[in-house]
Amino acid sequence: MRALPPDSTASQAETGGAAAPFDILDTEAVRLYQEDALDGIQRIADGSVDLIVADPPYGLGKDYGNDSDLLSGDAYLEWSERWMDAIIPKLAPRGTLYLFCTWQYSPELFVMLKKRLTMINEIIWDRRVPSMGGTTRKFSSVHDNIGFFARQRDYYFDLDPVRIPYDAETKKARSRPRFEGKKWLEVGYNPKDLWSVPRIHRQDPERADHPTQKPLEIVERMVLSSCPPGGVVLDPFTGSGTTAVACVRHGRRFVGFEMNPQYAGLVRDRVTAAQPVYAQIRPDSEAAASAETSDLTPDAANDEADASPVQRLI
Ligand SMILES: C[S@@+](CC[C@H](N)C(=O)[O-])C[C@H]1O[C@@H](n2cnc3c(N)ncnc32)[C@H](O)[C@@H]1O
Repeated sequence: MRALPPDSTASQAETGGAAAPFDILDTEAVRLYQEDALDGIQRIADGSVDLIVADPPYGLGKDYGNDSDLLSGDAYLEWSERWMDAIIPKLAPRGTLYLFCTWQYSPELFVMLKKRLTMINEIIWDRRVPSMGGTTRKFSSVHDNIGFFARQRDYYFDLDPVRIPYDAETKKARSRPRFEGKKWLEVGYNPKDLWSVPRIHRQDPERADHPTQKPLEIVERMVLSSCPPGGVVLDPFTGSGTTAVACVRHGRRFVGFEMNPQYAGLVRDRVTAAQPVYAQIRPDSEAAASAETSDLTPDAANDEADASPVQRLI
């Protein structure tokens, strides 16, 4: 297993005399910097990241307690090209990138990314917005656009952990002899490119105090399918830390940046409360040895494990 990309220890000289970044979390498995991603990204080694989950400001004037979403039009697009050029080289050869955006800028952003990477999917996140009044001059917008891009054609992708089980009724309907013993019926189906997942409501237990927090279910699907166990996920615009939580729960390593100190605090709290739902992150040799000898189910393995590595280290 690769170590987390360097480095939390850049000196003032290395940072060109600027204030050193504030490491709000610096553990074996989770590293979060309260810092502008475009500054901090320079300390991350090229080719060291398996998956980038990028959820930047949308260019729509959202209030993140800073001026990060005040750019629009050409200025927003220029800034977008700058972060893409800084961040994409960090991807490992088999690495992939997901970009959250909205219809207002998705055409331009996808073209920019297609010049740098191979486009694999456009995923539509249907936010399950209820129908009630609203605009009368156009159709109500109820989705986000998500671009999925790869560095090369032989990219890492594991469908099995994100398959959706068939319900009993469908299984029964497919019980004719020609379907009997079919692997796809047992293992579940591909989630397809339309993801209907409710946005996070005020009363949702998952809710953190962040205006554009993404549902864990969506980010977990990205992490599980597109980052190998023990691999490294980079989230340059961490927000409330949804990607970090997904990583802790599923044994991936996380590195991220967030400018707003309050949101960075939220990330620390959410990560501290998160519990792995699968095996702990362990050194390669130990993991390999136990994979050979253990016949524990994932749940039993979790019962055996003590506190999460994050909790132990902060
Ligand atoms: C769309 S939100 C991310 C939401 C996140 N995916 C979640 O689920 O909570 C974008 C976040 O990026 C932060 N941000 C904006 N520009 C940044 C930059 N240059 N470096 C680091 N963070 C930035 C904002 O403060 C905001 O919290």
